[in-house]
Amino acid sequence: MAAEMKCVGVVGGGQMGSGIAQLAAMNGLDVWLMDADQDALSRATAAISSSVNRFVSKGLLSKEVGEDAMRRLRLTSNLEDLRSADIIVEAIVESEDVKKKLFKDLDAIAKSSAILASNTSSISITRLASATQRPTQVIGMHFMNPPPVMKLVEIIRGADTSEETFLATKSLAERFGKTTVCSQDYAGFIVNRILMPMINEAFHTLYTGVATKEDIDSGMRHGTNHPMGPLELADLIGLDVCLSIMRVLQEGLGDSKYAPCPLLVQYVDAGRLGRKRGLGVYDYR
Ligand code: CAA
Ligand code: NAD
Repeated sequence: MAAEMKCVGVVGGGQMGSGIAQLAAMNGLDVWLMDADQDALSRATAAISSSVNRFVSKGLLSKEVGEDAMRRLRLTSNLEDLRSADIIVEAIVESEDVKKKLFKDLDAIAKSSAILASNTSSISITRLASATQRPTQVIGMHFMNPPPVMKLVEIIRGADTSEETFLATKSLAERFGKTTVCSQDYAGFIVNRILMPMINEAFHTLYTGVATKEDIDSGMRHGTNHPMGPLELADLIGLDVCLSIMRVLQEGLGDSKYAPCPLLVQYVDAGRLGRKRGLGVYDYR
């Protein structure tokens, strides 16, 4: 199934979409990467080129495959260019309304056999599928950040996702060298259901003055062998993304324990979105 796939479309060229496009290109697929913002496409090209070079310089990828990957990558700001794709993976902003509109548009332009996948961190796949006429071909394909490095892809079945769509998506993730886990369609799925409350609790720990940001992160890095502390990780993910996920958990699971920490809300209100803006919990400028 995935072996028959030749072309992957990716919508959203931010940190996740660029990494997903890179994975597809490095694994011999033709790629169309679409973003509404030209500057995002320029940043995506630079990020992909630098990451491919890291793999080549470490001997994890041959120079030829690296060059081939860059040739396979086509960038566009026109969604219609994705009409030849066998699967389209959406990685735009974490907003249900914006994603639903995109799924409706994708349904209209994608070929009838194409799978429409979402890299959403938390939003209902069933509800995204309801914006299309092909709910059996809609699925969650949730990569972890940074996609070229992290081993996991979480696969989420919507209420109507077919077995064929599930198997084709799983097999594509395996072609990318990823381990997969399968989740039912409930807010936050597996990874963010567990990870985000921990990150939110780290914000509460900072907010209530229990410890400094450095000690919170050092405590979790050295005390639990996490590669990054929870506040550094929130800056990597994007504080806006963390806040959106907490709101989906709170609404979808109906428990006040998922209420976002006021400090997280305030940082996002102030535009402190993390590494991508140069300022989050930490200052990267
Ligand atoms: N492309 C290629 N290689 C990369 C890379 C990239 N974009 N980013 C890192 N690497 C490689 C480096 O070359 C290096 O390889 P070696 O060990 O072979 O030298 C290795 O990864 C480590 O990189 P760095 O030395 O640069 O270390 P780092 O601290 O900057 O970060 C990290 C690497 C992979 C991000 C690591 O810190 C980590 O695993 N952090 C936790 C990440 C995590 O938890 N992600 C999941 C977030 S949750 C999520 O994604 C779901 C959601 O919906 C929000
Ligand atoms: P990002 O802000 O880095 O990138 C989003 C990109 O989408 C931007 O370049 C923006 O210009 C583009 N975009 C927005 N609306 C668009 C539209 N309608 N059409 C075309 N392009 C559009 O975001 P990100 O961190 O890459 O997250 C993208 C998705 O992946 C979200 O759903 C997020 O929840 C999910 N996700 C994020 C992470 C993470 O760690 N950041 C991890 C896993 C999943």
